[in-house]
Amino acid sequence: MDKIFIPPIKIQGIKTKLLPLIERNVLPLDELLWVEPFMGSGVVGFNLRPQRALFADNNPHLIAFYNAIRFEKISSYIVKNFLTEQGKILSERGDDYYYEVRERFNKFHEPLDFLFLNRSCFNGLIRFNREGKFNVPYGHKSQRFSKAYVTKIVNQVRYVEESLLCFDWKFLCQDFRETLAQIDDSKQVFIYCDPPYIGRHVDYYNSWSVEDERTLCDTLKNSGKYFMISTWLQNKFRINSCVEDIWKFCRTEMQEHFYHVGAKEINRNSIVEAVLMNYEPPEENNGL
Ligand SMILES: C[S@@+](CC[C@H](N)C(=O)[O-])C[C@H]1O[C@@H](n2cnc3c(N)ncnc32)[C@H](O)[C@@H]1O
Repeated sequence: MDKIFIPPIKIQGIKTKLLPLIERNVLPLDELLWVEPFMGSGVVGFNLRPQRALFADNNPHLIAFYNAIRFEKISSYIVKNFLTEQGKILSERGDDYYYEVRERFNKFHEPLDFLFLNRSCFNGLIRFNREGKFNVPYGHKSQRFSKAYVTKIVNQVRYVEESLLCFDWKFLCQDFRETLAQIDDSKQVFIYCDPPYIGRHVDYYNSWSVEDERTLCDTLKNSGKYFMISTWLQNKFRINSCVEDIWKFCRTEMQEHFYHVGAKEINRNSIVEAVLMNYEPPEENNGL
């Protein structure tokens, strides 16, 4: 992977940093259908570029956004005009306008408004409250949608648009149980799962329990398909006991990375993340 592609919609838990580890351990995808039941931003599948893929998530707004590109309801050209125009209004009216768009999105759920909010809200977060309403505040910055920023987003949308012309990629809004139930025996598939971390319920679409983790594990095991899941192993404070309890039959490859919370050295924490697989290492990486 020469250059990592960053998707237009950002989410918490985006696996950009884990991509090299995933790429080294994934099986050659030429003959396999890529199934990603927790697509999130889509950064993993979008960078591995399988010929055929099923991307799913229980967050309807992520799926609606990619389906709008797939069915040509929105294009890079439309995005450029929209963000340029809306960005101009935002620079004139500031906070008031951001909250107006947020309200509009919570009523009509338009994919372009979702993109606008995701790229102008505080810290680029997506978070939905108990009623499923987007509730992230404005991320103050003068010239939010500068010409360079709009171009960057437009290029990200164009990447997906062009990929959809070459590849057979589908997007479905559904629970992971449904996605996994859809895989029939005849399909040659590779399943990549990146579920939310247990106990870190951050928003409406991200609750996750030990029971969910067990169901996921049993379903994957019984499917008889190749799978990989990504998770965390340990940080400064805790060890993820699920890996030992639930996933102990899997092969584990790990990677440590540092993240900063503020400028001081003392705030430089490390986390060990891992990919867990039910197959032996690929003999040689096919350069995906
Ligand atoms: C850790 S994120 C995935 C991140 C993604 N791999 C990336 O790099 O952007 C987990 C995703 O799972 C979705 N999700 C949570 N519970 C789910 C469920 N029961 N079924 C399907 N998707 C679910 C969330 O909406 C979220 O997008």
